[in-house]
Amino acid sequence: MTTRGQSRPIAIAIVGLGFGEDFLPIYQAHPDVGRIGIVDTSRARLDDVGDRFGIDDRFERYEDVLASPDWDAVHVLAPVRFHEEYAIAALEAGKHCASAVPMATTIAGLEAIIAAQRRSERVYMMMETSAYGREYLLAKHLYDSGRLGTVSLYEGFHIQNLDGYPDYWRGFPPMHYATHALSPVLALTGARVARVTARGSGLLADDRVNSAFDNPYASEVGLFELEDSDVVASITMSFFQTARTYTEGFNIYGSQMSLEWPAFDSDPLRVFELGPLDPHQPATGLRGRRSLVSDAVFLDPAEALPADLVRFAEDFEIAPAGGGAAIQKNAEHGGSHPYLVHEFISSIVEGRAPLVDAATAAEWTAPGICAHDSALRRETVEVPRFRPT
Ligand SMILES: NC(=O)c1ccc[n+]([C@@H]2O[C@H](COP(=O)([O-])OP(=O)(O)OC[C@H]3O[C@@H](n4cnc5c(N)ncnc54)[C@H](O)[C@@H]3O)[C@@H](O)[C@H]2O)c1
Repeated sequence: MTTRGQSRPIAIAIVGLGFGEDFLPIYQAHPDVGRIGIVDTSRARLDDVGDRFGIDDRFERYEDVLASPDWDAVHVLAPVRFHEEYAIAALEAGKHCASAVPMATTIAGLEAIIAAQRRSERVYMMMETSAYGREYLLAKHLYDSGRLGTVSLYEGFHIQNLDGYPDYWRGFPPMHYATHALSPVLALTGARVARVTARGSGLLADDRVNSAFDNPYASEVGLFELEDSDVVASITMSFFQTARTYTEGFNIYGSQMSLEWPAFDSDPLRVFELGPLDPHQPATGLRGRRSLVSDAVFLDPAEALPADLVRFAEDFEIAPAGGGAAIQKNAEHGGSHPYLVHEFISSIVEGRAPLVDAATAAEWTAPGICAHDSALRRETVEVPRFRPT
């Protein structure tokens, strides 16, 4: 990708103030960010967030941000159905664009964003939290240093009950949101998915079926074959009719070390390290190699983040602009948010592609789209390529 580096500070508008609110204080603290604007179709939400975070630039219409030369970049966190349209509009208006997952929900949509990014020469980044969480960063460190060995097995899962969420989630095809569960193994190995075989598991009750989607399934499971690799990733997605507290993570098994996600968020990530064969095995009667088990020790965020952002990798609080009780924020998604903000902003400043650029985002998103297609057709589906071989 060719983009022109941009002199600082960057003026950015945050679009959609549900999840989007969590990113505001991080952008406010970033040393290369200047002016911050907020966009939301709800005036009440705009004013509530604007007052608490001390932001005067408030827009009910996204188009007004795009039409103004005052804004260099947008971060789109509007509902899923706007991601594709808003990303293309931003790039065509000459703005850099970060987008919440999923990038789009059709293959044509992914291709259209890639084309718009190439024409615009602006930065596009999909803000994939699972590629920056502390668990993934530890897995990557162990993999890159050779300690994990080769990847033997990978299981990604995302089980979350979406009853009572905004109505656009009703009947949402689970595999259209597979990026959180799948991306870690693709980020780790640099591989793309060649083909996928998936099936639906459990039919949606009538009141959860949504005519906006071609989806009868509450859950979907899939086997994703990595290209030029002997690894098959197993992915489980469930949004309805599954009795389980929210879990979104992965187990990665290597030839020398493995990481296993805790059953509950309050429990530690477990690290397994394969020991040698016991030389006294015949005498003891034991067979097989034992693994040493320990609790994960995560990397220090200060090694990767600017000093002003380090505190956002853990739970934090901030003083509201108008005074009053502190705003408490949990470091959701493995503390990934400050890493995402820093990667997006620094890629603009440095005029380089971000880690999850448009082609990479498409490679991480398309397998889920193809998996849903596979489940509907009950056939294996080839995943398209998004860059030359
Ligand atoms: N781990 C993750 O990466 C992660 C986690 C949560 C949500 N998300 C994504 O972030 C996005 C937002 O999630 P959410 O839970 O905040 O959604 P939400 O529907 O609860 O809230 C979205 C906000 O956007 C506003 N809005 C609605 N339509 C808009 C429009 N056309 N333009 C501007 N603003 C609009 C709403 O008023 C609301 O304040 C979703 O696409 C979701 O997929 C990603």
